[in-house]
Amino acid sequence: MKAIRGATTVGKDTAEEIKKSVEELLLTIKRRNGLNDENIVCIMFSNTSDIKSYYPAKAAREAGFFSCALYSSLEPEICGALPKCIRVMIFAEIESSPKHVYLKGAADLRKDLSKKLNIAIDGPAGSGKSTISKILASRFDILYLDTGAMYRACALACVRENIDCKDEAGVDKIIGGINISVKYENGSQKTLLNGEDVSDKIRTPEISMLASSVSAHGSVRKKMVELQREIAKQNSCVLDGRDIGTNVLPDAEFKFFLTASPEIRAERRMKENREKGIEQPFDSVLKEIILRDEQDRNRKIAPLLKAADANEVDTGDMTVGEVVDCIVRHIQGGI
Ligand code: DC
Repeated sequence: MKAIRGATTVGKDTAEEIKKSVEELLLTIKRRNGLNDENIVCIMFSNTSDIKSYYPAKAAREAGFFSCALYSSLEPEICGALPKCIRVMIFAEIESSPKHVYLKGAADLRKDLSKKLNIAIDGPAGSGKSTISKILASRFDILYLDTGAMYRACALACVRENIDCKDEAGVDKIIGGINISVKYENGSQKTLLNGEDVSDKIRTPEISMLASSVSAHGSVRKKMVELQREIAKQNSCVLDGRDIGTNVLPDAEFKFFLTASPEIRAERRMKENREKGIEQPFDSVLKEIILRDEQDRNRKIAPLLKAADANEVDTGDMTVGEVVDCIVRHIQGGI
């Protein structure tokens, strides 16, 4: 059983307005969550005390919600509360994560759910960016854009064309002819190089190092950043990378910078690699992590850097759940 939340406001305290707003709210929740009459168990309303002309629960019956239990209650008068607001909690038997709905004036209560939202997650390799970003994207039901995957695909293109990723002139020559794009299948990002899905091929330790080198070149960054900005303009998304908060989306609503010691990050990366069938001794993973940090931090263009207005989260001693909770609390509390 899942709890789906929602809220709306009414312009005037009249029976007609209340009925219209309740119907719109319930039907939107029903549509977005794929609910049918059988899987709705009960609907509970509460409304601010400046709404007196009609019971939201009665309006729900009239809107066709016949088989579930309905309940309405009145909220206490709280100074500064959003006026003429109707809140709802629907208990429903669904498998998918609930999609909460905030309409009209109530959209201001939850900007994360109601407006286009871009969340920037930056940090060094192994700081937990991709794990956390994927969970956040699913929690907020928005896209996850792994920008590192794009630089990795550029590195793979260079390998295939026999170009040294450190050779800026060589990379500049081929970058115009490389087509990098992303598509989403069941919410998960596929990275395409000239139309070919290379999502798995770009996850090797060799490509990690080469991506760090190739990403230092201005021509590569210009092309990738344009693509990333376009995706972020069209969609609500969580973007992870090195320069999202500082360069790609300096105006992102929320920015986080994840950190952890090189040893902890190397430990995590080794475990991740092992799960993919790649065995690499700890010392060699640690060496690569330190080298990559150095390259990413010291390059001239858009280096790895915490944006002045980003929230730093040291994930070293935290579980994945704790990091997610900390970020979600910040996003929901800060709006
Ligand atoms: O996050 P990752 O390990 O997949 O990234 C691979 C490399 O790409 C990383 O070492 C630096 C570079 N990168 C970047 O320069 N800017 C980004 N926004 C993302 C990654």
